[in-house]
Amino acid sequence: TIERTFSIIKPDAVAKNVVGEIQSRFEKAGLRIIASKMIRLTPEIAGKFYEVHKARPFYNDLCSYMSSGPVVVQVLEGDGAVLKNRDIMGATNPKDAAPGTIRADFAESIDANAVHGSDAPETAAQEIAFFFSGTELCDRP
Ligand code: CMP
Repeated sequence: TIERTFSIIKPDAVAKNVVGEIQSRFEKAGLRIIASKMIRLTPEIAGKFYEVHKARPFYNDLCSYMSSGPVVVQVLEGDGAVLKNRDIMGATNPKDAAPGTIRADFAESIDANAVHGSDAPETAAQEIAFFFSGTELCDRP
């Protein structure tokens, strides 16, 4: 099934100048970038995006980290895009990430873990709508 998923290239990966390398991994896996923009989040916007984690002990650190520098937010489309993206990213904690995954190759720590990706199609739809209007999503037949 053709799906869409939401992806963030986090401040550590942008600072390392590996935006293109990461996007290339998505493309090589057959995912198409149908929307993409570089933005600087405020702590408030990061807090709203990660509201589901509000009660977690890492919430404040996560929100200040995500607003510490520019990020690239993007929408990826392709067959089984949600799971495919999660496979390419690797485990949340780079210490547990399989060799060859984005997090194994580029991430520094569990917060500075290079990328975010939606965990399910329903969350993907919410996360896409949080950052993009309908006209910003490009059809790529
Ligand atoms: P992400 O996929 O962006 O979703 C929430 C983020 O919280 C996660 O990646 C990590 O960068 C960060 N985080 C920090 N500590 C933890 C933790 N103990 N468990 C899960 N996520 C964590």
